[in-house]
Amino acid sequence: MQKSDILKNLQEIAGNERVSASSAELYCYSCDASQVRGMPDFIVRPVSTEQVSKIVRLANEEEIPVTSRGAGTGMAGGAVPLEGGIVLDMSSMNRILEMDLGNLQVTIEPGIIQEKLNEALEPYGFFFPPDPGSSAMCTLGGLIANNGSGMRSVKYGTTKTYVLGLEVVMADGTVVNTGSKVTKSVAGYSLNDLFIGSEGTLGVITKATLKVRALPKERSVLLASFDDPEHAGQAVVKVLSSGLIPSACEILDRNIIEAINTYDPNIGLPKAGAILMFEVDGTENSVREGIEMIRGICSSLATSIRAASDKKERDEIWAARRLVGAAVSRLDPLRTRVYLGEDIGVPIKELPGMLHKIREISEEFDLPIMTYGHIGDGNLHTGMCIDMLDDKQWDKLSKVADKIHRTAIGIGGTVTAEHGVGSARAEYLELELGNALDVMILIKKALDPKGILNPGKMGV
Ligand code: MLT
Ligand code: ZN
Repeated sequence: MQKSDILKNLQEIAGNERVSASSAELYCYSCDASQVRGMPDFIVRPVSTEQVSKIVRLANEEEIPVTSRGAGTGMAGGAVPLEGGIVLDMSSMNRILEMDLGNLQVTIEPGIIQEKLNEALEPYGFFFPPDPGSSAMCTLGGLIANNGSGMRSVKYGTTKTYVLGLEVVMADGTVVNTGSKVTKSVAGYSLNDLFIGSEGTLGVITKATLKVRALPKERSVLLASFDDPEHAGQAVVKVLSSGLIPSACEILDRNIIEAINTYDPNIGLPKAGAILMFEVDGTENSVREGIEMIRGICSSLATSIRAASDKKERDEIWAARRLVGAAVSRLDPLRTRVYLGEDIGVPIKELPGMLHKIREISEEFDLPIMTYGHIGDGNLHTGMCIDMLDDKQWDKLSKVADKIHRTAIGIGGTVTAEHGVGSARAEYLELELGNALDVMILIKKALDPKGILNPGKMGV
């Protein structure tokens, strides 16, 4: 079929106003928050599963790539149409279809923003825990497709913990439903888990039933300062081994503290080599006890410890923490944050060693590395900024990212704990997964024999 005929067909399926092939719009959909770029041929904004199914069926018949996209906040190129074709912008399918709170669950369309779901749940005393830095922008479909997580996963787990069921459009346009409304079922393969984190390479998620949790009554934040990140890492190992599970456990290194204080001088985080931000939630008593326990455990390693004085201060600290990824660019107007090598995960007891190694790599290559992230999950974000127009700096950054990735894999870790593989990290999957990657490739071939779904991603 000619390009003009494909355009006509897409317009017939979704309506003229929901399809575009204008270069200005195509350009807007050629990137996400990473450095990966790829120009689509068509943008379609479907409003129903039926439309998605028809579009994917057409794409399969014509062998046109289909890349589904939420808000484009991804950091690994997952939503970038590397091989052109159709970008399915799912953000118009953004309704909450059912609030079944008696059963602790909601059914949603994939385009709803994470924060909007929580705003709708709050009056009823519930929340959806996965809480990435981009909660105010990212879609739940994107979170499911990437098994996203964020600040609370140390206690509440990642998105997959909350997925009860999915409606998925398969590569040939067939619509399947996986999972169910029950919290336990062993009927068949765990197909939810196949699609969660598959980054749009196995199907297009058009609906999801998600578990929600009751909002905790109390929350309190403790800030512990350390001479260096390694001591902070040791404190985390001690706290987590004590059996206490904080509702958040974040690290900020010296540069990140400066970035936050520059972004919002009112926050005035203590100057230190590193800070751990612990949050404990629960009942009034359990929170008080938890905070005191952490204070006691950290006291031999920390240089100072203080609790956030009130809810206002706590909320300000969290708001600033969410913006850290972008705020680091404020430190030097000539350099830009590049998302490469920024999302490793390591086993908990390897944290002090990994933090030490990051410092060594930074010194070896003479490139500042700003470390922050969900240290309670073993997940470290190693932020780097360069002059994007300088090839030598690009080269240096790629070498640093490569060394960080290989070091993490070498100690039993992962190249991506939450940001996703996309195309930015696909080259490491063989090293990290071994012949499990062959199984992934077999699954991909079985479910998408023509390879139309998000081609060029995840090493499949
Ligand atoms: C975060 O933890 O802030 C997010 O993963 C996003 C980022 O690193 O910028
Ligand atoms: Zn993160």
